[in-house]
Amino acid sequence: MSPEYLYNIRTVCYVFASVTFILGLKKMSHPATARSGNLLAAAGMLCAILATIFINVHRTETGGIPEYEEREPRGFIYALIFAAILIGTIIGWVTARRVKMTKMPELVSMFNGMGGACAALIGLMEFPHHHGLTGSLTAIVLGLIIGSVSFSGSIIAFLKLNGTMRKPFRLPSYNIINTVVMVIVFGLGAYMVFGDSQNGLIYVLFALALLYGVMFVLPIGGADMPVVISLLNSFTGLAAAFGGFLYDNKVMLTGGILVGSAGTLLTIVMCRAMNRPLSNVIFGAFGGSEATGAQESEHGTIKDVNVTDVAVLLNYSKKVVIVPGYGLAVAQAQHVIHELELLLEERGVEVAYAIHPVAGRMPGHMNVLLAESNVDYSKLQEMEDINPAFEQTDVVLVVGANDVVNPAAKTDPSSPIYGMPILEVDKAKNIIVNKRTMNAGYAGIENLLFYNEKTSMFFGDAKKVLTELYDELKDMS
Ligand code: TAP
Repeated sequence: MSPEYLYNIRTVCYVFASVTFILGLKKMSHPATARSGNLLAAAGMLCAILATIFINVHRTETGGIPEYEEREPRGFIYALIFAAILIGTIIGWVTARRVKMTKMPELVSMFNGMGGACAALIGLMEFPHHHGLTGSLTAIVLGLIIGSVSFSGSIIAFLKLNGTMRKPFRLPSYNIINTVVMVIVFGLGAYMVFGDSQNGLIYVLFALALLYGVMFVLPIGGADMPVVISLLNSFTGLAAAFGGFLYDNKVMLTGGILVGSAGTLLTIVMCRAMNRPLSNVIFGAFGGSEATGAQESEHGTIKDVNVTDVAVLLNYSKKVVIVPGYGLAVAQAQHVIHELELLLEERGVEVAYAIHPVAGRMPGHMNVLLAESNVDYSKLQEMEDINPAFEQTDVVLVVGANDVVNPAAKTDPSSPIYGMPILEVDKAKNIIVNKRTMNAGYAGIENLLFYNEKTSMFFGDAKKVLTELYDELKDMS
């Protein structure tokens, strides 16, 4: 086969892979098609990887006419590549299979960090071979800076999420210090592209960019990490896209751009759903204050109910809406809530789930969680659709949710969550709130819903009390 022919086959593989990435992303927008979308994109990626490894054709231009040269395949290099692929696949497969749903943001941050590290390594390896080529050097230096920031930032995000680094760490005037470091990093990068730089400087740039990644994420609160991870994800995509420029590799370019833009969009969507500008996530001190744990406050008293009261109320309802939140995920109560839903339906009660876009700690957290226990997708109602239906709802059962049902978002302009769209559960006839204590949720603020006269607090770990509730209901005729 002529080298030109092989080159064209590889290009077709790249186009095919790019199309699968786009279709895969589209399919991932709905839980019913997300799994097949993921598999489709993975198949495209496999095709692109195999084409890159096995079609060793190089394009050169002589007098403007493209020429194609086939390179000798090298056994030792192949052995190294496949050993690396095998080790990576095993580690990725085992970790992804073992990870619990609540630990997913940690896994994503670790995988994202690895992507950033790859982009940075490309820069380190390629820099010595491109002296004097401004275009290539620009792609190398930018890929290295952004990839390194993404790598070290993701590691800090991972440590914050798994609890190793609990507190935000802020140096005095950290905004100014961070900005100075960023300017130094880009200044050095520009010198290396346009000035007369030595090879050793690339390691200095690498170290400084790593330091900036750490300084960028360190002051941000642990609870804001999902937004930061999504932002770093878009950085990794950008860094990979620079690699695509460097190697004239179309699929790397398309993949990088897709990751970059998807990450950026996700960051924007999350910030919008929380009604917080990105600057507030990066520079703000959100969730710092702790709400009172008292049962009585200036807002009135709360009503405490036991499992029998809740069972009776649910048993005689016509319509029940379940509002899942972060606590449901922590307690791993998704299976028992599904059992409860089925039992209520057997008794003729209409049941739906109200899904807030930022309930839990990652995008689509509740959808994924409930899908895990085979809840029918048609029962999951988006916030805009369910809000008008609360008035006709007999009982709202809030399980481990707090901020997403906090009326302060609508009524208190001084509240940090003011303006965030919420599930308007206070319109329902009865509200049952399950959580363990009166402690605050993610935003660290008090929730006046708990003092509403229609609200009854159903204290305890979600899995434990819902199991008791299920047993109680089952025994009821
Ligand atoms: P939160 O406001 O965090 O409230 C969760 C509640 O669950 C807590 O008040 C906690 O109260 C309770 N809880 C914890 N463990 C429990 C258990 N084992 N059993 C029963 N209850 C338990 O959750 P939410 O309403 O889902 O809101 C999500 C928050 O995260 C929003 O502020 C959102 O902006 C933010 N956020 C979301 C995302 C995404 S993309 N989803 C990303 C970043 C930030 P107790 O301790 O008293 O039990």
